[in-house]
Formats: sequence, structure tokens, C-alpha cells
Amino acid sequence: MAALTGQVALITGAGSGIGQATAVLFAKEGATVVVVDIDEPGGEETVAQIRAEGGEALFERTDVAKADDAQRMVQRTIDTYGRLDILHNNAGVVAVKFLEDMAEEEWDWLMGVNLKAIFLAVKYAVPHMKAQGSGCIINTGSTSSFEGQYMTPAYCASKGAVVQLSKTLALDYAQYKIRVNAVCPGTVDTPLVRQHIENSPDPARTEAIEKQLIPLKRFLQPEEVAHAALYLASDQARGITGSALVIDGGTLAGYVD
Ligand SMILES: NC(=O)c1ccc[n+]([C@@H]2O[C@H](COP(=O)([O-])OP(=O)(O)OC[C@H]3O[C@@H](n4cnc5c(N)ncnc54)[C@H](O)[C@@H]3O)[C@@H](O)[C@H]2O)c1
Repeated sequence: MAALTGQVALITGAGSGIGQATAVLFAKEGATVVVVDIDEPGGEETVAQIRAEGGEALFERTDVAKADDAQRMVQRTIDTYGRLDILHNNAGVVAVKFLEDMAEEEWDWLMGVNLKAIFLAVKYAVPHMKAQGSGCIINTGSTSSFEGQYMTPAYCASKGAVVQLSKTLALDYAQYKIRVNAVCPGTVDTPLVRQHIENSPDPARTEAIEKQLIPLKRFLQPEEVAHAALYLASDQARGITGSALVIDGGTLAGYVD
């Protein structure tokens, strides 16, 4: 049997990159997927991909940093499918600049999408999971949850907080059989990374250095992170909560020349 048969998964940032790959994979594994994104064409494309392969999905346009939107995405899931088994808080944004060049609004925007959105989604989803007596929450951190990264102070601060938040939520909700984990990707070839590289002072040099720093000497593919999320969502990981699963081609292990 497929790993997620009969389960309902809500995935934010599912209109692009890692979230899109995860939505498609979860659907292939039998899940019904609520595709959430602020980008309507991207989200609709994910739904079309899932339906083309015979899966069930709907798109809910949402700004995950807004409380009303977060409440609505959870409510639509419950109203349409009757339950919410897997909440994957994957939406994320990056800003490549020194802190003194960052406007207050930009700091708030980044923290809103990367961190506050998890608070909001969990706040509205957990009561349903408690009532069901089960649930799985997967939050997206980064290798930046564990080490600094040049010219991305707000991003690194947000991702460090994601892992600490995930661990504490794991403690708070273990009593309700709700597992909470994080996936922490290294450099994955998505629009977010392309934007990061293009906004750096010397894009070609940045890309070469980034690849050199990865022991596997390549950027990861979104599907490789999707498989890690699938594992955490599956019954195979029923004993795992409060963990941060690193998918980084070896970057955090050290440097290989
Ligand atoms: N790509 C990498 O190398 C990498 C590395 C570490 C962590 N991550 C994390 O993985 C996650 C996915 O990143 P990706 O690389 O697939 O990026 P991506 O840019 O391809 O996808 C991010 C998605 O989030 C959506 N989004 C942005 N703001 C939103 C909002 N306010 N409300 C709803 N949706 C919103 C975007 O529209 C987009 O579809 C992010 O949390 C990112 O920080 C990525």
C-alpha cells in the first residue's frame, strides 16, 4: 500500500520548488493534498500535475503570514476533506543583504513567512489534530538553522528559530500523538536559490563556491527533500518527533576539497 493512503496533507509554498515536488510525491503516495501558496498560477499548476496523475488536490490561495488566511486554509481543508493529518509548513522567502541595508518592513515580511506562519498554521490546525487523536507537522528549516550564511542574517535567524520552535512543539503535543519535526535542506536547485545567487555580488562565483562547499559537489533536487518529508510523514517514522532531518549533500558534515 502507498505510504499516505487515506491521509489529508496541507502543504504551504506548494506552488514551486520543494513544496511542489513534495505535493506531487505525497499525492502519488495516496494523500489528498491541499496546495497552499500566495502564487495562484504556481499553485494551480501543482494541482493540475497531481490530477493528471489521478490524484486528488485543491488549491487555496493564502498569504501564510496573515492570520485570517491561515485560519481559512485550515477551515477549507476540514470543510472539504473532513480532517487534516499532515501539516507541512514549507513556504519560505530569502533576502540577500547586510542587516543595515534591510528595511523594517522587509524584516517583518521575511519573519512573517518563515516563522510567524508556522505559529499561525499550528494554532489553527492543532485543535483538529487533537480531536482526531493524531497528526504530523513538518516545518522547513535549513542548514542555516545550524550555521551562519553570508549576507542572509534575517533568513538564518528565522531558520534557527524554526528548529527550536519545532522541538518545543514536539514536546507540547506529544501527549496528543501529534509528531513535530523539521526538514533542513542544504542547497536545492529551486527558484529561491536561483534568486539568492542572482542577487549576490558575483553570481557565477557564488554558484561555483556554493557547489564546491557541498561534499557531493552538486545542488540537490527538490524531489530529494520531498522524499525526506515523505519519510517523516509516513508511519515508518512513527517513533520520530522533535528531530531536524538534514538533507544537504554532506555540507554540515564538513568540507571536502
Ligand atoms: N532551495 C534551497 O536551497 C533551500 C535550502 C534550505 C531551505 N529551503 C527552504 O525550503 C522551502 C521551500 O523553498 P524553495 O527553495 O522550494 O523556494 P521556492 O521559491 O521555489 O518556493 C517557495 C514558495 O513559497 C511561496 N510563498 C512565498 N511567500 C508566501 C506567502 N506569504 N504565503 C504563501 N506562500 C508563499 C512562493 O510563492 C513559492 O511558491 C523554504 O522554506 C526555504 O527557505 C530551501
